[in-house]
Amino acid sequence: MTAIYREQNSAVENNKKTWSGRFNEPVSELVERYTASIGFDQRLAEYDIQGSLAHAQMLATQGIISHADRMAIEQGLNQIREEIRNHQFVWQQALEDVHLNIEKRLTALVGDAGKRLHTARSRNDQVATDIRLFLRASIDEIISLIKSMQRALLDLAEQHLHTVMPGFTHLQVAQPISFGHHLMAYFEMLKRDVGRLSDCRKRVNQLPLGAAALAGTSYPINRELVAELLGFEGVCGNSLDAVSDRDFAIEFSACAALIMTHLSRMSEEFILWMNPAFGFIQLADRFCTGSSIMPQKKNPDVPELVRGKTGRVTGHLVALLTLMKAQPLAYNKDNQEDKEPLFDTVDTLIDTLRIYADMLTGVRVNPEMMRQSALRGYATATDLADYLTKKGIPFRDAHEIVAKTVQFAEQKNCDLSDLELSELQIFSTHIEADIFAVLTLEGSMQSRKHTGGTAPEQVQAAIHQARQWLS
Ligand code: ARG
Repeated sequence: MTAIYREQNSAVENNKKTWSGRFNEPVSELVERYTASIGFDQRLAEYDIQGSLAHAQMLATQGIISHADRMAIEQGLNQIREEIRNHQFVWQQALEDVHLNIEKRLTALVGDAGKRLHTARSRNDQVATDIRLFLRASIDEIISLIKSMQRALLDLAEQHLHTVMPGFTHLQVAQPISFGHHLMAYFEMLKRDVGRLSDCRKRVNQLPLGAAALAGTSYPINRELVAELLGFEGVCGNSLDAVSDRDFAIEFSACAALIMTHLSRMSEEFILWMNPAFGFIQLADRFCTGSSIMPQKKNPDVPELVRGKTGRVTGHLVALLTLMKAQPLAYNKDNQEDKEPLFDTVDTLIDTLRIYADMLTGVRVNPEMMRQSALRGYATATDLADYLTKKGIPFRDAHEIVAKTVQFAEQKNCDLSDLELSELQIFSTHIEADIFAVLTLEGSMQSRKHTGGTAPEQVQAAIHQARQWLS
């Protein structure tokens, strides 16, 4: 929201502060700037208006204000919403925050009715409501973006059910897997992320309004009505907790940090795989940049930045936890500091997910390089051990036999599947001609055909289930 932002002559404006009745001297320009949140909380304006409309409707229904006042308030707030959307609204630092800016303008537009809006309400329960509305909408958008990214993952995975690559442990070649199977691991992570966000949303979606400053209000309000009007699932059960709680912001940030952590892992893999030493994939040019000095370079800037921005989002989580640590009840001005980390978390996450969904559609795979890499690492050694175990040799002994066989192949500088049957039989007489079906990358992959395994039909089944879950 790029609204017009005007610094006011504070000496003149201070005498007019909404809350200044009992003050003898104005705040300095520095204190005004230091305490104001309008520079960032104006982004809550839509939600602030939404909350005020519901509050006014409830006040009128309960007979706390007249219906004429309510209609004036509604008309004024609708006009203000238009002014803000059209960037005509003049935000004033002297008016401190989004709530007072809007209230002041409302009063200018509709007079005393505007001054009655704040009956049975405080900025403390107002701001908590605004943030919750903002976060609820953000969560919904984030979940839908995660799902777009998951769809892109499924499309790519489905093309690579049979594309063999080395699966790694310790970043050393471990066992053959399909590229599709590898991608589906990220689908699972993101699925948990959706679950976490949906769960977090329930606790975000509770109404603080009615708590007023901290103790509740003596007016005959109807909180359930306001909750219903705003689409909240319930009302916060304790007025002190309602104004002081920011758990929901912390929980959300934890979800966000974890999503970014997942994306940072994928990013790290993309970066490695783009290195010619791996050469597994190429990213579309639009996600990379060149070097101004080294003409051969194609740098994976986007995944690198995702990796970097993960630190930033995790930092915001720590900032919010630290903000709340040891804070006495109920509302404290400290809480104003919740917004910037929260907003930046939402923005960073949304941009990252958008970019990722697009980036996945532009991944070009080099199956030959993946295959060569799997062949170089004796990825089917476990399969040989399993083969021997199935012939009655205890697994630990089989492990030993295979270790020696690998050593032999290493000296010959070839893969296990390149050894002659007679050579394999040096290490165990149990080895027969059927061993070669097991020693190939495809044979190894195909044999892992239980739920969650890398066999193509299992990965296909996982993709099928995933599509059902998505729809
Ligand atoms: N700008 C404030 C915030 O973001 C609004 C609530 C202020 N309440 C108060 N009593 N000063 O937290």
